[in-house]
Amino acid sequence: MPRLIRAALERAGIDNPDRVSTGVDVIGDIAIVRLEGFSRREKRRIARSLMQDMKNIRAVFEQEGGIEGELRLRKLKHLSGESRTLTVHRENGCIFRVDVAKSYFSPRLSTERLRIVGLVGQKERVLNMFAGVGPYSVPIAKFAGAMVTSCEINDYAARLHEENNRLNKVEGLVSVVAMDAMDLPERAKLKFDRILMPHPSQANNFLPKALRMAKKRGVIHYYRHVLGRDEGEAKDALRTELSELLPPRSKYTIRKVREVGPRWLEMVAGVRLPP
Ligand SMILES: C[S@@+](CC[C@H](N)C(=O)[O-])C[C@H]1O[C@@H](n2cnc3c(N)ncnc32)[C@H](O)[C@@H]1O
Repeated sequence: MPRLIRAALERAGIDNPDRVSTGVDVIGDIAIVRLEGFSRREKRRIARSLMQDMKNIRAVFEQEGGIEGELRLRKLKHLSGESRTLTVHRENGCIFRVDVAKSYFSPRLSTERLRIVGLVGQKERVLNMFAGVGPYSVPIAKFAGAMVTSCEINDYAARLHEENNRLNKVEGLVSVVAMDAMDLPERAKLKFDRILMPHPSQANNFLPKALRMAKKRGVIHYYRHVLGRDEGEAKDALRTELSELLPPRSKYTIRKVREVGPRWLEMVAGVRLPP
């Protein structure tokens, strides 16, 4: 049970904390909680109590189920405070306008995003195939100074990404294309040094496309949700998948990003393509 929720339960006078909370995400001034086994009235009390504990929170929503669909959206129910889903979130020295209901955003990935920013060189041309509101692309441009093309199928998320480019003064370095990554044009002149594929439930379907857009010796960051009892098992499963998808003589390292559910891990392979 997350500490914040446990404190809110105590304050709300709800005992028997056997019931489950799988977490709280704070995005800007909005808190999103996951609560199972509580009545509607109890959920509202917990939400009010959370707002008392966290003075910067203006709204609390409950997330029902997982993050779903092609656009990877949360299904949210309002519990307390203001009934708005648009907020401003600060992460890794950047500012992001995010709509927590109409665009994907997870604050749990901030460390991974920072790791990627640290790998990018200034002269690189980077493609982010699944860009969301820009939490990878914007800091890559701002801190590595690289040119980034962001692709995003959700028109609204793409518009927020453009606003975020302006807010962070990187509109000269980042271009956003609102389209299906599968339809990105493949031109010999437009090959990328580095391609980001932060869409772990679907990246496998897009890897052949990424391979056609990457330069020789280019790098691909390939994110996947993998079933495994532990990190070792998840690595083995991802190795098997990559052995079928990558060209011969590709090199890669695999690391765990985070746990996403019982026996499900988010993993990332950093792939270096052959000459
Ligand atoms: C898991 S989210 C990651 C977003 C962003 N990189 C981040 O970290 O916040 C995947 C994103 O890919 C977008 N997406 C899904 N299918 C797509 C496609 N075929 N082409 C382009 N974008 C797509 C979704 O709308 C979503 O914003």
